[in-house]
Amino acid sequence: MIDHKKTIFVTGGAGFIGSNYLNKYVLLNPETLFVNIDALTYAGNLDNVRVSNEDNYFFCKVDIRDKSKIKSLFEEFKPDAIINFAAESHVDLSLKDPNIFIETNILGTNNLLFFSIEYDLKRFHQISTDEVYGSLDKTGESFTEKDLLNPRNPYSASKAGAEMLVNSYHETFGLNTVITRSSNTFGPNQDASKLIPRFIGLLQKGEKVNLYGKGEQIREWLYVEDCISGINAVFENGHNGEIYNVGGGLEMTNYELTLELLKSFDKDETSISYVEDRLGHDFRYSMNTSKIKDELDWSPKVSFEEGLENTISSYEPE
Ligand SMILES: NC(=O)c1ccc[n+]([C@@H]2O[C@H](COP(=O)([O-])OP(=O)(O)OC[C@H]3O[C@@H](n4cnc5c(N)ncnc54)[C@H](O)[C@@H]3O)[C@@H](O)[C@H]2O)c1
Repeated sequence: MIDHKKTIFVTGGAGFIGSNYLNKYVLLNPETLFVNIDALTYAGNLDNVRVSNEDNYFFCKVDIRDKSKIKSLFEEFKPDAIINFAAESHVDLSLKDPNIFIETNILGTNNLLFFSIEYDLKRFHQISTDEVYGSLDKTGESFTEKDLLNPRNPYSASKAGAEMLVNSYHETFGLNTVITRSSNTFGPNQDASKLIPRFIGLLQKGEKVNLYGKGEQIREWLYVEDCISGINAVFENGHNGEIYNVGGGLEMTNYELTLELLKSFDKDETSISYVEDRLGHDFRYSMNTSKIKDELDWSPKVSFEEGLENTISSYEPE
């Protein structure tokens, strides 16, 4: 392998956001080696990665829960930085089997943190979520980075736990850390089990979409290109020990989102079938993004309509 100036571990790089990150930043940084560390769970797919033939990309099929393999990777590559995308990320699955969420999202993150100290890592970037704040009502003020965490399901609790560990390594061992909390992200490469790709798949087959409850829950949507540019802005220039919200700014009920999707397929409300609501379904997520705007001059650029069009055209009908 040729020598590179810098080595970055990108965990979970075969998943949705991680693969979009690699597809862009491997090409933009030819002098940096990107090592994609992914266990290839149901959500990981190497076909998502279009840069696999580049000299500055390398893939390792490793589970971040496996401490000895993670140690070997640190020993072999001596990384300068880690961006930790790897996670169990599906709330519904966390209601059925929370254990693996604790193992991957908390213990797996701890393995990476542990060796980051031993091998003198220069930057640890934890990818987190708006869900750690918990739920807001309709009129509640958008969350800022100073708000207390109040996760309400095993997925968001495990992500909040991981954040606490990251902060503790910063405080105790002086590890250089940043955390980004992104809002609901959509775009190409997302696993078919998530809302937008699932609905697109059903509509492509001419079937009805199944909406939880009455679809009243409100989410803040962020196109994946904007998500990864926000993450990169923080990775490169975010202040050590700080947390940044990366939000799309566009709030929609799940019902409104479904209508947008139906419109793209020339369908109407008769294509919705309402199903029993998710247990403990958080009502609203909304984040204030003044900090990343003021400090790092980042704001989302892609309109929802453009993002949705790109997303729909990226999913081939079966
Ligand atoms: N998708 C969103 O809307 C969203 C929003 C906010 C935050 N996030 C966070 O962003 C990150 C990426 O999310 P995503 O939507 O791309 O997730 P994803 O589920 O699409 O991808 C996760 C990737 O991690 C890998 N992985 C899972 N367990 C692993 C393990 N034990 N060891 C190594 N690899 C493992 C999977 O194989 C997969 O490639 C996650 O940390 C998630 O919590 C996602």
